[in-house]
Amino acid sequence: MQARIIKMLKSANSFLSGKEMGTNLGLSEEKIQDHIHGLEKLGYEIIQIPEGYRLMNTPDVLYPWEFAARESCIHYYDEVDSTMNIARIKARDKCPHFTVIIADRQKKGRGRLKRTWVSKTGGLYFTVVLRPDTTVSRAHLFNFGASLSLAKMLRRHYRLDARVKWPNDVYVGDKKISGLLSEMETENDHLAFVNIGIGINVNNNPTTEEPNATSLKILLGKAVPRKTVLLFFLDEFETMLDTHCSNAGDIIAQWKQFTMTIGKNVRIVTGRETAEGKAIDVDETGALILEAEDGSLKKIIYGDCFVI
Ligand code: BTN
Repeated sequence: MQARIIKMLKSANSFLSGKEMGTNLGLSEEKIQDHIHGLEKLGYEIIQIPEGYRLMNTPDVLYPWEFAARESCIHYYDEVDSTMNIARIKARDKCPHFTVIIADRQKKGRGRLKRTWVSKTGGLYFTVVLRPDTTVSRAHLFNFGASLSLAKMLRRHYRLDARVKWPNDVYVGDKKISGLLSEMETENDHLAFVNIGIGINVNNNPTTEEPNATSLKILLGKAVPRKTVLLFFLDEFETMLDTHCSNAGDIIAQWKQFTMTIGKNVRIVTGRETAEGKAIDVDETGALILEAEDGSLKKIIYGDCFVI
C-alpha cells in the first residue's frame, strides 16, 4: 500500500487530499494518515496542510517501487548476511531471469577468493539472477559482460575513466570502485542459473578498510543516488546481454578495449601459487595469457591480479 501511496504522491506533484487518496485506494483517511507516517519513518519527506499531503523529497532508498518498470523483479532488504545467499535460494525456487536482490547493508558480504566485502550503508550491494539458455562453457561471459557493462555505464553517465581489471574488477585510475563475484548451478552441461553479485562503492567511504579503493562520491565530490546508479547499470547490462551474448567473441573483444590489464607486468596470486609475467591477452574462455621472462606462455584461469 505504501508503494501505491508513494506513486500517487509522485505523480500528483502537488497536494493530494487524504480523502481523494482514500477513495482511490479504498481506505479511510485515518489509514492514509497511518501509511503517511510509515513512509516518513522510511525517510520520505512529506508535508501536510489542511488541503492534503505533498511529497517534498525522496531519500536515497532502494525499495522496489522506486524502480518503475523493474519493480516486480526487485527484492529489497535492509540487512542480510549476503545477497548471494538470498539470490541462491530464489534462483533454486525458480525466480525469473534478471531478478535483483538488493541490500542496504550486508553482515557477511563476500568477496572473491573467500575474502570479506565490507558492506556498510551508502554502498550498493546486489546480486542479479540470470537464467541464460546456454551451456556451462559460456558462464564466464556473464561475469565479463557485467564488469564491462559497469565500466561502460560509469563512463557514459558519470564521465569517469572506468576500466576493467582481470578477472572482473572495475577501476577508476588506480583505485578499485567495484568488485564482482559469481556463483552458478548447472543441470548436466546446461546453466541452471548464474548469479552475479556486485558491490559498488557509491556514497560509502571504503578507504579505511581498503586504501586502494575509491567511491563515486569521492570521485565526483558529491553524493549520487544509488537507485540511479543501479538503474543505469541494469539497463546497460540487459542491453549487453540482449545484443552480445549470442557472440562470445564480442563480449571479450569489447572487454579488452576497456581493460587496464593487458600489456602490464602482473603478479597473479591463486591461493598459495603465484605467477608473474606480462599479461598479453585474454582468450575466448576468459583466461589470462601470461608471457614469462623466458618467453613461455601460461594460461591463468583464476586468481588475484596485481600490477607490478
Ligand atoms: C571482490 O571484488 O572480491 C568481489 C566483491 C563482490 C561483492 C558483492 S556485494 C553484493 C554481493 N553479495 C556479496 O556477499 N558479495 C557480492
